[in-house]
Amino acid sequence: MAGDERPIGMFDSGVGGLTVAREVMRNIPNERIVYFGDTARVPYGGKSKETILRYSRQIVHFLRTQNVKAIVVACNTASAFALEEIRRELDIPIIGVVKPGARVACLTTKNNRIGVIGTRGTIASGLYTEFIREIRPAAQVIGKACPLFVPLVEEGMLKDPVTVEMAERYLKELKEQEIDTLILGCTHYPLLRSVIGQIMGEKVTLVNPAYETALGLKELLEREGLMNVRGLEEGVSHRFFVSDAAENFREIANHMLPMDISGACRINIEEY
Ligand code: DGL
Repeated sequence: MAGDERPIGMFDSGVGGLTVAREVMRNIPNERIVYFGDTARVPYGGKSKETILRYSRQIVHFLRTQNVKAIVVACNTASAFALEEIRRELDIPIIGVVKPGARVACLTTKNNRIGVIGTRGTIASGLYTEFIREIRPAAQVIGKACPLFVPLVEEGMLKDPVTVEMAERYLKELKEQEIDTLILGCTHYPLLRSVIGQIMGEKVTLVNPAYETALGLKELLEREGLMNVRGLEEGVSHRFFVSDAAENFREIANHMLPMDISGACRINIEEY
């Protein structure tokens, strides 16, 4: 098998999907990523299905111009609203983050009481509940939308007292529900892991779908004969694109990723 040196395309509304990119870099280090953060149109969480589908189609179109061999929708909202339709339109593999997250939560829970936090769109879609019930029909799934988390993360306010205060308010209901597992159902939320973990306490296991998504991607690349068996050549590195505010993105990305990115290239996504 010669392998395939083309990059993996990945997208989110902003920096959140970098939590998935980080896991892909750790677990499939031979692969090159082309990442797009839709920083001009973030947040996605309160927007309609039609809008998210239109945005996702444009981004997929852009990623195809970068000659990607597969696409990871590193955004729960786009995974919930657009993944299935786009999969039908594409001739390369595409995966999302919701199914992997649901699978880990089912393996984790002991009392069958699973909480999910995410954007309004993800929670309203009911997709986590659907996937969880396919695996564990008796599971109780309690969803809670946390719309202010994404702007707080995009502003880099990861441990700010305002963030702690909001987290306390959002999570109060879930704490009363005796869940033993909580899915971080938005790719921005793993960045708030320590705040969320402290509030929920030791008895609740936090599930970050990013790791499982990276493993799912690895399996898919192996199955389809798409792995880059030669590894990254010297000087070849991941590439980052945004639709706005490239400097802010670069700063946050440099805190999150195992290497410094020299810059993020701004493109006009409305042209795609
Ligand atoms: N990080 C994305 C998600 O996982 C989008 C959040 C947003 O833009 O509202 O849903």
